[in-house]
Amino acid sequence: MAPYGDRARLHAEGIIDLSQGTPVDPTPSFIQAALISASDSPRYPITIGTPELRAAMRKWAEEVLGVTGDFDVLPTIGSKELVAWLPTILSSKKVLYPKIAYPTYLVGAMIANADHTSVDIDASSWPDADLAWVNTPSNPTGRIHSESELKAIIDYARKTSTVIASDECYLNFPAGDMKPISILQVAAGNNTGLLAVHSLSKRSNLAGYRAALIVGDPKLIAEIREVRKHAGMMVPLPVQRAMTAALGDESHATAQADLYRKRREVLRPALEAAGFTMEFSNAGLYIWCTRGEKDWDSIAWLSDRGILATPGHFYGPDGDHHIRVALTATDADIASAAARILEAAK
Ligand SMILES: Cc1ncc(COP(=O)(O)O)c(C=O)c1O
Repeated sequence: MAPYGDRARLHAEGIIDLSQGTPVDPTPSFIQAALISASDSPRYPITIGTPELRAAMRKWAEEVLGVTGDFDVLPTIGSKELVAWLPTILSSKKVLYPKIAYPTYLVGAMIANADHTSVDIDASSWPDADLAWVNTPSNPTGRIHSESELKAIIDYARKTSTVIASDECYLNFPAGDMKPISILQVAAGNNTGLLAVHSLSKRSNLAGYRAALIVGDPKLIAEIREVRKHAGMMVPLPVQRAMTAALGDESHATAQADLYRKRREVLRPALEAAGFTMEFSNAGLYIWCTRGEKDWDSIAWLSDRGILATPGHFYGPDGDHHIRVALTATDADIASAAARILEAAK
């Protein structure tokens, strides 16, 4: 990426970096206040979370994810860390992950020394495994799993006793008519073998706090909790307080989702005018698009406009004719990126 970054920096009005999915809007002040109020924190934090945080996670899981039946919750230090270490914690020997995917699924399998296979969406074609990653809505494609696709995954899990980890960290960023749903809602009360992975990084602009959680099968969560009690990775108490405040409020999350939706509406038509075709991109924080050319050619074209995006093959070889454009930039930067693209498309 470095040469394209250098090329983009030569632009007279400077570089606009749309290559990283890192939030740029402020952490809501009521969440900052919760963190600050717990800054006197001499004791070790509780691995399972304070009673207040546990109650907040359970309530959120029921009300927002639609979880029913027997389930448990556990706070985690970020979800990247969970993704990277889950195969090790569960001693997984065979891990499946989506063909076009967030790279940490593969890295986590490699850390665990597990066999790893990338798979299509349709679970009826999946080989046997111990752990299968699902990502809905997807990074990078913004694709949402339909209810029937999630049902097929649950059927696969029941038949093969494979643990399903459904990474749903973009669930609250719908971009069209199709609403993303949690695998735990589709499970309708039988959560055996299922985990949903959630993060407050984007929902609440808390990426710097490292605040995330898992929800699902109580037996699985007990197994993870047992390892964590000894392996550490405890969520710091001030962050637990901040998470409790953040999970107790949906309005800031909805307002943030609206901001991203508007940014998408500004950037999307500009990219279309420049000949890009959108694929999926029905949710989440990214535009996944193609001009039918090699990803590096699209990246080069954008870098000459001072814009940095990510080549699709970073997410798997099948992505090598696509690019990922992140919406995690200020309104002003998104507007000038769109203007530069439109100008070039004239
Ligand atoms: C699909 C997916 N999962 C997990 C993460 C990790 O998020 P965090 O560690 O901030 O919770 C990301 C971050 O971009 C992601 O795209």
